Amino acid sequence: MPGFELFGDKERKEVTDVLSTGVLMRYGFDGARHGHYKALEFEQTLCEITGSAHSHLCSSGTAALSTAMAACGIGAGDEVIVPPFTFVASFEAVLLAGAVPVFGEIDNTLCLNPDRLDAVMTPKTKAVVPVHMCGAMARIDEIKAFCDRKGLVLLEDACQSLGAAFQGKPLGTFGKAGCFSFDAVKTVTCGEGGAVITDDPAVYDLCHQYADHGHDHLGGPDRGADGHPVLGTNYRISELNAAVGLAQLRKLDQILKIQRKHKQVLKDAMADLPGISFRLLPDPAGDSATFLSFMLPTEEKTRQAATALAHNQVPCPYWYDNNWHYFRKWDHLKKMTSAAPLAAQLCPNLPDYSKVHLPESDAVMKRTLSMQIMLSWTDQELDRRVAAIETALKNI
Ligand SMILES: Cc1ncc(COP(=O)(O)O)c(C=O)c1O
Repeated sequence: MPGFELFGDKERKEVTDVLSTGVLMRYGFDGARHGHYKALEFEQTLCEITGSAHSHLCSSGTAALSTAMAACGIGAGDEVIVPPFTFVASFEAVLLAGAVPVFGEIDNTLCLNPDRLDAVMTPKTKAVVPVHMCGAMARIDEIKAFCDRKGLVLLEDACQSLGAAFQGKPLGTFGKAGCFSFDAVKTVTCGEGGAVITDDPAVYDLCHQYADHGHDHLGGPDRGADGHPVLGTNYRISELNAAVGLAQLRKLDQILKIQRKHKQVLKDAMADLPGISFRLLPDPAGDSATFLSFMLPTEEKTRQAATALAHNQVPCPYWYDNNWHYFRKWDHLKKMTSAAPLAAQLCPNLPDYSKVHLPESDAVMKRTLSMQIMLSWTDQELDRRVAAIETALKNI
């Protein structure tokens, strides 16, 4: 997810605008900032891109998830259904809210299986947080239908999927709110940053208030005159980070075009290889194409393929062994090893995560490899990769 590959003069120009005023904060200092409101401009651009009515930038994708959870009313004791294949931030945000993460099974989309949500729902379930992993979509229409039927909050973690859509509708816009990350390895990067999008003005108000100590932002130029309708925290983004992200966001179409082209070349080259199947994409046209994820028939063959691909200089993450992205290796969660006691630990409904078994997710993840798609590949590098993949996989 390599927006950083296109870092250049446009990013430098936006940053220089900010440095030339010395105003590094997104709020206040109206006279000194000479009309530069980079965070605001980023938010407006994100609304144009996603068609969302509102967006609020935060200091990270994790902060955006926490902000969205607070704004959607997810709190102490609530259960939130999340997938076991994601980045740890997805369940961290639930725990930080004082809520209880409950893991649903994933399917060949590598995202939550809507047919398995009922199995983990209880009277305490408040929300479902599908994670659109590796640049592409969950079966989001079915997950939304489930949430609507059951009266649950749908909050999309689209941190890895900026620019992706399902049947023309951008990911992140299906539920009460959606979140993006703009960290250093995302499609568009601010260095560190994240955003919440929503069509609900009340959710939006709670987002910008919660992420700025409860400020209602109605006091005019004097921040001290703002009211504090809710308790909050500081998840503000700085103008410097927003400036980098603004230049990057304007390149999103270009980034997506290159990614899709590069992915198609590799996918075509692999299509006829025996034993290879691809991740199920509910809408292939809406894939942002940051990764090419594929499956082999068995765990043994998948491990052999990972070794052979790495040997041929085409390394592919094997998420099943990954410390950060799959439940199997989250020992700190399984033992609830926290720096200090967490509110969720006071909840009688907190499961013993060491006893949680996810056989369907294990079956998918054991057989899945993902190839990261880079923007900087030349035609020669693509040719080299195609040849290397054929060499690596032909005898598996
Ligand atoms: C699915 C997912 N959710 C949330 C996050 C958190 O984003 P950030 O690193 O900006 O806090 C990430 C980051 O990798 C992610 O991949």
